[in-house]
Amino acid sequence: MQSAPLSPQAARSHQSPLPVILDCDPGHDDAIALIMALANPQLEVLAVTTSAGNQTPDKTLRNALRILTLLGRTEVPVAAGAPKPLIRELIIADNVHGETGLDGPDLPEPGFEPVPLKAWELMAQQIRASEQPVTLVPTGPLTNIATFLLAYPELKSKVERIVLMGGAAGVGNWTPAAEFNIFVDPQAADIVFRSGIAITMCGLDVTHEAQIMEADVARMRAIDNPVAQCVADLLEFFVIYHKDPKWGFDGAPLHDPCTIAWLLQPEMFRGIDCHVAIETRSELTLGMTVVDRFGLTGKPANAHVLLGVDRQRFVDLLADSLRVW
Ligand code: RIB
Ligand code: CA
Repeated sequence: MQSAPLSPQAARSHQSPLPVILDCDPGHDDAIALIMALANPQLEVLAVTTSAGNQTPDKTLRNALRILTLLGRTEVPVAAGAPKPLIRELIIADNVHGETGLDGPDLPEPGFEPVPLKAWELMAQQIRASEQPVTLVPTGPLTNIATFLLAYPELKSKVERIVLMGGAAGVGNWTPAAEFNIFVDPQAADIVFRSGIAITMCGLDVTHEAQIMEADVARMRAIDNPVAQCVADLLEFFVIYHKDPKWGFDGAPLHDPCTIAWLLQPEMFRGIDCHVAIETRSELTLGMTVVDRFGLTGKPANAHVLLGVDRQRFVDLLADSLRVW
């Protein structure tokens, strides 16, 4: 199966910025994805919405506000979403991200308030107001995205693409079959993958290649500005969990920033268009993204599934994104 042609975004370097909405559960890698998005003027971050996943909804909201305060970008509207998955009870990844969800750096307290809207209401408001179709970039469980699609079906045509971190063509990282974001809310993921909207899936196949090594962390630490220092602090905490030899990693996989890197430089990635279905019933494989790599089902492709990345270019983009602050 051939890769999809370069995304419209790849041709847009000379065009107007691509309007995006980030739906995140910061979370160390979410925070770095947010910093990368706001560092690159090819993207226009219309809003940030927060999901429950890496930590509880109150903590992921507070973390998004703290990061935006650090960046001095308090004009970006922020809204929290669902307090729990559509059907299942919430599980969190405090074992990875710590008690605050962003353990490691000394972050400022939020310098502004979220808008008095739910995440999906803010998405609808921004999408209606945008002259161009908007790209949604979820990097946590897909509860808010699914709720938006259910509540505002008439706005689907103004969604350019969903570029999500989640799933895997291979094994999972939360169960043997499932990646965390999809496992937290499989029903939401099922709604998203059945939506008919163009999807780019940044699953574990590619994110496990996007590893940040100790030398890369030192490279970020050497960049003399508060944001780069914060990212170095985030990375020094984030690598702890991934040092467990069971993973077989040389570094730590930077999952969520793969979404932003693909939007900015899709040519550093390789992927295939194929059908992806979500397991929502089996106890054994709940939350599995069943990726039909070889077209065995005959079902039409509903996602561009990333399978590899030029790691050095990915790390270089991160470093470039930290120098601008
Ligand atoms: O499985 C990795 C994903 O789960 C990432 O988005 C990480 O932030 C966590 O949410
Ligand atoms: Ca995340």
